[in-house]
Amino acid sequence: MRSTTNAMTDAIRIFPFLAPAALATAGCQSVPAAIFRPESPGATAIHDLSIYLLVVAGIVFLLVEVLLLTAVFRFRNRPEEQAVQTHGNLRLETGWTVATAIVLFATLGLTVRTMGEASSVPQAALPQASAWPGDTLVLRVVGYQWWWKFEYPDSQVVTSNEVHVPVGRPIKLQLESADVIHSFWVPRLGGKTDMIPGQVNYSSFLPTATGSYEGECAEFCGTEHARMAFKVIVDTPSDFSAWVKAQQSPGAQPATDAQKAGQGAFLRSCGGCHTVNGSAAQGKTGPDLTHFGSRTSLAANTLPNTPDNLAKWLQDPQGVKPGNSMPNLKLDQATVGQLVAYLEKLN
Ligand code: CUA
Repeated sequence: MRSTTNAMTDAIRIFPFLAPAALATAGCQSVPAAIFRPESPGATAIHDLSIYLLVVAGIVFLLVEVLLLTAVFRFRNRPEEQAVQTHGNLRLETGWTVATAIVLFATLGLTVRTMGEASSVPQAALPQASAWPGDTLVLRVVGYQWWWKFEYPDSQVVTSNEVHVPVGRPIKLQLESADVIHSFWVPRLGGKTDMIPGQVNYSSFLPTATGSYEGECAEFCGTEHARMAFKVIVDTPSDFSAWVKAQQSPGAQPATDAQKAGQGAFLRSCGGCHTVNGSAAQGKTGPDLTHFGSRTSLAANTLPNTPDNLAKWLQDPQGVKPGNSMPNLKLDQATVGQLVAYLEKLN
């Protein structure tokens, strides 16, 4: 049975506007769409605009409701009275037209300014790498139904669904899609950017604090859109260098008998779709699993990465995430145990 936290997380992925209510009821830890706790200049700009809009919309809402209720009660139908008949009121009509225009133009101006700030790095410079600060880290992100591939062109690292970046360095995102339109969104680090097949879109963020940040697909892309999530882990520079170094190494060699048997089963059943560097498994259809054991979640942040959950996933991937591309291989219990032993060893 899925926990209430998971149910709430799913609900927020589908209805992000529920986030403030969930923040109040669930505490901050389990809420992915936490735009109210920004940790990059771009996300802060979006947060500030959201507060402005909430306040302005709140005032307008209250004003309209008060006028509406006043009209309903004060001018309700009284059979003994004939209503005053009027035609037009120049002062009133000019007033509400000018007031509305002022509010809308102020909102337009602030929105245009925020759009410029939202990427943390000047928009005009986006496609030209030479215009970026020298320490910019380039990250290529490809959306698939329903998972994420992350590539670091500079260090040749490839990973899936869980990505590490260093704190305080501008991150340039090169966003692509392998199938349908997805949208890259890490609420605490920046705005959404669509990932469109056959086109490269750019975005950026500048993380200002270490930690783990929930990301999600923000464009409906099929039945498992709600379970197309990922994590951005912001490391200190030295932790990040250590992580890159570990990721560049080939997959760990199996040591125990169970792990060796698991590797054999993996090469037979899984290697056509998944890659484990340093082995014959070089499939490109599914996520790269070279360092699967080092990730904290599986199936695009659907489940915590524990041996039990991995066994559940291997036995019935369609039960965990209906419609995903991983078939039910009808593995027996013993083979599942060996695969779990092998995969969790890939740290
Ligand atoms: Cu990918 Cu929604």
